[in-house]
Amino acid sequence: MASQDEETEVRAPGLAVDFLDVSKEYIVNGKPLKALSSITLNVKEGEVAAIVGPSGAGKTTVLNIIAGLEKPSQGEARVLGLDVNASNEHSLSAFRSANIGFIFQSYNLVSTLTAEENVELMMELAGWSDSGRNEKLTAELISMVGLTDRAKHLPAQLSGGEQQRVAIARAIANDPPLILADEPTGNLDQKTGLEIVKLLARLKGEKGKTLVVTTHDDRIVEMADVIFHLENGSLGSIDRPARVRN
Ligand SMILES: Nc1ncnc2c1ncn2[C@@H]1O[C@H](COP(=O)(O)OP(=O)(O)O)[C@@H](O)[C@H]1O
Ligand SMILES: [Mg+2]
Repeated sequence: MASQDEETEVRAPGLAVDFLDVSKEYIVNGKPLKALSSITLNVKEGEVAAIVGPSGAGKTTVLNIIAGLEKPSQGEARVLGLDVNASNEHSLSAFRSANIGFIFQSYNLVSTLTAEENVELMMELAGWSDSGRNEKLTAELISMVGLTDRAKHLPAQLSGGEQQRVAIARAIANDPPLILADEPTGNLDQKTGLEIVKLLARLKGEKGKTLVVTTHDDRIVEMADVIFHLENGSLGSIDRPARVRN
């Protein structure tokens, strides 16, 4: 049992994600389905966290709650200090635009917008109104992900790996402190996935960004500071591999 002092310490600021006994239940065909059972976990600011586990374990549900796209059925979820349960849709949406970059397994780019327009859109959604500055930043991001010569392509005119690179540029376009990635290499072959892993590795440690990544990819797990094992909606072991810093 943690003493009162330890309890206070664990729940102090500096945590990007703080889940306390979070459960999530869906009703499917009138029957309750438990997607998460009393999950307690935290991710410190600046850490890379990997969430691993078989399909259906609840990984995406965890990310959706962190992003404020879903609310816990029970328990408390704090994200960068914001209490997800206590916030309404409007404030969650504003919070997301300002603080969260979400990289989806299936990219989810806006199909009618070019690569660069997809990236610039996030700046506009975040309320950045200096279009000259946005344009310059977009060009830098598109260059960072190696797609300068594809900037004016629509998503359908890009390969899966290229679309995921646009999605990464888009996810960091509004310079969010917290980046969520849902099996970002899940739809890509090993070699194409490697480019994505390298881009994620670049974000690691950059300006204290926090990354939470669900994955089956050992290359991503290897760069994690903390690994959460989920199975059947329950949290199993939590690994914090000791690292030799160089
Ligand atoms: N919107 C939903 N409605 C009903 N059931 C859902 C919904 N989202 C997820 N589930 C169920 O919750 C469980 C966990 O899903 P998910 O978080 O997507 O797992 P994972 O990402 O690990 O594959 C699964 O059994 C899934 O079918
Ligand atoms: Mg999933």
